[in-house]
Amino acid sequence: MKTFLVANPKGGSGKTTLATNLAGYFAGLGYHVVLSDMDRQKSALKWLGNRPVRLPFVNALNGRGDHLISLSADINIIDSPAGLRGEKLKDAIKAADWIIVPIQSSVFDIAATEKFLDLLKAEKPIRKGKAFVLMVGMRIDARTKSAALLEKYLDEAGFPVKAHLSDAQIYKESAETGFSIFDMPASKASKHKAQWLGLIQSLKILNKN
Ligand SMILES: Nc1ncnc2c1ncn2[C@@H]1O[C@H](COP(=O)(O)OP(=O)(O)OP(=O)(O)O)[C@@H](O)[C@H]1O
Ligand SMILES: [Mg+2]
Repeated sequence: MKTFLVANPKGGSGKTTLATNLAGYFAGLGYHVVLSDMDRQKSALKWLGNRPVRLPFVNALNGRGDHLISLSADINIIDSPAGLRGEKLKDAIKAADWIIVPIQSSVFDIAATEKFLDLLKAEKPIRKGKAFVLMVGMRIDARTKSAALLEKYLDEAGFPVKAHLSDAQIYKESAETGFSIFDMPASKASKHKAQWLGLIQSLKILNKN
């Protein structure tokens, strides 16, 4: 079993977009995937509610209930709310093997994420190498100067950027339809799927244990 926590206290940074698309990706590989939603807005579970039954199955878990993850899952993906901090954040970090942090490139987003990254650095599972932090640049073109600057800044801070996902209509469509981009035809999605490769390769040490 592996657990991914998607987190950034900054609202609208792209957490649910990453969590739902990762869920679709792993379900498509045949894993037993549980999508756990800690957010009271329940956006991830709404996405799941719209997901056509013919697509690879993803289980739902109310991450605000008694359990944050399912012990019978191959893959747990936790979508966390804006403003997550304190004990709830600590518990979620404790459960996670990977913490995936979406970040947009504006100075406001960077400033808001900075404090969170300091907080992560101080957490024991991360200090001890039991949980790993991976950054994903959101709504950003990898070839731009702002992508390069964001990457340099985060690399220097010790948080590698594993992917840049462009600002694209396909993510809006995904949000509305319950499809992940990995469920969509190559003609529409291949360019966008390719942008996930760096992140996915970082997760390759995954196994079914
Ligand atoms: N790469 C992208 N391209 C286009 N739209 C995007 C992209 N990433 C996210 N969005 C859109 O931006 C909005 C916010 O994204 P999302 O809901 O994933 O953020 P969030 O961090 O989960 O927000 P919250 O903090 O409110 O939970 C959504 O409408 C989503 O469809
Ligand atoms: Mg969300």
